[in-house]
Amino acid sequence: MKVLVTGGAGYIGSHTVLELLNQDIDVVVVDNLVNANVESLKRVEQLTGKPVDFVQADVRDSRALDAVFAEHSISAVIHFAGLKAVGESVAKPLDYYSANVYGSTVLAQAMAAAGVHRMIFSSSATVYGEGAQAPYVETMPRGVTSNPYGTSKAMVEQVLTDVANADPAWSVVLLRYFNPIGAHESGQIGEDPQGIPNNLMPFIAQVAVGRREQLSIFGDDYDTADGTCERDYLHVVDLAKGHVKALQATTHSGTHVYNLGTGTATSVKQMVHAFERVNNVQIPYTIAPRRAGDLAAFWANADKAATELDWRAEKDLADMVRDTWRWQQQNPNGYI
Ligand code: NAD
Ligand code: UFG
Repeated sequence: MKVLVTGGAGYIGSHTVLELLNQDIDVVVVDNLVNANVESLKRVEQLTGKPVDFVQADVRDSRALDAVFAEHSISAVIHFAGLKAVGESVAKPLDYYSANVYGSTVLAQAMAAAGVHRMIFSSSATVYGEGAQAPYVETMPRGVTSNPYGTSKAMVEQVLTDVANADPAWSVVLLRYFNPIGAHESGQIGEDPQGIPNNLMPFIAQVAVGRREQLSIFGDDYDTADGTCERDYLHVVDLAKGHVKALQATTHSGTHVYNLGTGTATSVKQMVHAFERVNNVQIPYTIAPRRAGDLAAFWANADKAATELDWRAEKDLADMVRDTWRWQQQNPNGYI
């Protein structure tokens, strides 16, 4: 079996390619490298001892996609490619709708033309919207999203649902990730953000390694136990394995939606203290104003993935902070 992985050189994509290869599933990666370094795939090849076919191309380039489908016998597509920075999406909405929504439609068209009808799509817990009550469960409707990034994910969910409704040949899986963190336990692949990290875990890791002076905690006056925001953090290797499970379990027609999270929430302060305790390092921090658009607390109800995909997050918070720190220490400046 061969799978096309778009965005496979990126953070979640590279971990997923590794897990696919470990299951003897062949992989072709299409990535335009706008937010990745091909070194990630070289390391995946070293770790698995298996080759990765790589094509540097944009998912909006239908000719390039046609060539990939013509050259390889592809059974399914795992679609990670897209832009993901929430703040940037507010400033550059067209970039986000183009890469995420238009890119997904071009990809789906190329798949249909090639007779490939299985897609697993990277969606996000953000599609539950601002008013949803945690824990989020798949039976809840999508809500009102608060930024173009979130809206683009909700739009792609709808586009792919319509595609599957129109033609029973399609099997679409929408995986709603909660907050992936951590790195492969080898320390060889991990998250390598460009510039100042937007997300909590890579920021903490860069403070720990001395690239940043201190962490700003965005608000400690939320209605939560310690006043800081709570999220459902899951290990990226668990998340990657969730894709393999979804690939194996969902071959049937229609649209299938799964939350991928642990089902538990951790506050920003708890995360800082876990990182300090497990790794024996200090993370200096200051309390800063709230960040626009942040919700106080949300986490997953992850029962459906457990029941239908036989998937559960297996790694705990200590694994997440330990593996993040190993990756950061071994690669203080990322892949360069
Ligand atoms: P990432 O930026 O590391 O990976 C995305 C990859 O897609 C990168 O390698 C990038 O170079 C590539 N890419 C971007 N635009 C492209 C295009 N037009 N054509 C081809 N390649 C393109 O991000 P990630 O954290 O690995 O996220 C993967 C997917 O999961 C994204 O769709 C993201 O929105 C989604 N997601 C991520 C999170 C998270 O917290 N990391 C949460 C929910 C959903
Ligand atoms: N935070 C800080 N300081 C920082 C960075 C983050 O205090 O320097 C706080 C945030 O305010 C938030 C928490 O840490 O309370 C987590 O923030 P992240 O940016 O790491 O994660 P988010 O929950 O905001 O967003 C992530 C992804 C989105 C996705 C969303 C829901 O970045 O793509 O989860 O799945 F949509």
